Amino acid sequence: MSDIQTQFVKNILSGAETNRKETGLAFAPSNIALCKYWGKRHAALNLPLNSSLSISLGSLGTRTELRLRDGAAAAPAVFLNGELLPPDSSFAKRVAAFLDLFPMVGTSFEVRTENNIPTAAGLASSASGFAALTMALNDLAGWGLGGRMLSMLARLGSGSASRSVFDGFVQWHMGSNDDGSDSFAEPFSKPWPEFRIGILELTDAEKPVGSRDGMNRTVETSALYANWPAQANADFQTLHSAILKRDFPTVGQTAEHNALSMHATMMSAWPPLIYLQPESVAMIHQVQRVRADGLDVYLTIDAGPNIKLLFLEENEGAVASAFPNIQVINPFG
Ligand code: PMV
Repeated sequence: MSDIQTQFVKNILSGAETNRKETGLAFAPSNIALCKYWGKRHAALNLPLNSSLSISLGSLGTRTELRLRDGAAAAPAVFLNGELLPPDSSFAKRVAAFLDLFPMVGTSFEVRTENNIPTAAGLASSASGFAALTMALNDLAGWGLGGRMLSMLARLGSGSASRSVFDGFVQWHMGSNDDGSDSFAEPFSKPWPEFRIGILELTDAEKPVGSRDGMNRTVETSALYANWPAQANADFQTLHSAILKRDFPTVGQTAEHNALSMHATMMSAWPPLIYLQPESVAMIHQVQRVRADGLDVYLTIDAGPNIKLLFLEENEGAVASAFPNIQVINPFG
């Protein structure tokens, strides 16, 4: 916990009264960025070097129950999908560090978190995890915080968690203030009921380098990264207006170009960050092949090996026969 984080939390909670309950409960959806967040301008406050934009995954995400325990201050007991995590595991340590920011609520917690998506396989479970934890804390403490404040608190746990506080299409404004007070996410656009996401889970292996270390390494060592913030901010604008216009080919092309450009910055870091596995590369080629045959399908990839496809309902049958292991998600269903 740094002084700047303590001050940030204090500012967010100024004006909120604590009316503590026994249990806090919340669900937050996972989200997939169409314009990626990659690179921080401030580490402790998770302030990004570019704005990003995502779509939330409806009922796929994290459900978290938070309870206060009696007794002296202690590391939280963190259960993930029913199993007690060792206190030195990476997720338990991150949860403990996050809860340490809220001594006014309690100093000993039990956290029961259930993911219905694979953890740490590039399917953004830390996003839904920290969004659900923040919302469960808000429920437990009775603060009654609105979406913008929840988004800024969730951001301290994981940058992309700022977007998982909301359903549907979400934009995270990078902001420019040093104190982080204007870096928050908010939903935009009406639902797009025909929009589909396909998950191709190629491997559930944990990624070797987490996004936090991966982005720092990229910012510090990749010469290609110099172009990234400008490209990402332009992609953000293009995606934003294409979503409002329901221009699917522009959404798909911009999202795919954005993801592969991010991977180019990762590969040009040193030591190189190669999240793609042979199966991922084969799948990228297959998407290009079926698109050349006339199917309107695009892909995106986060900091992991798994591929997500973007397409419209009218092509669901054709996409499912070209990619038999696909799990189709209707984000507005
Ligand atoms: O929120 P983090 O620190 O797990 O970083 C997320 C990074 C990407 O998933 C690659 C991109 C994004 O915007 O979600």
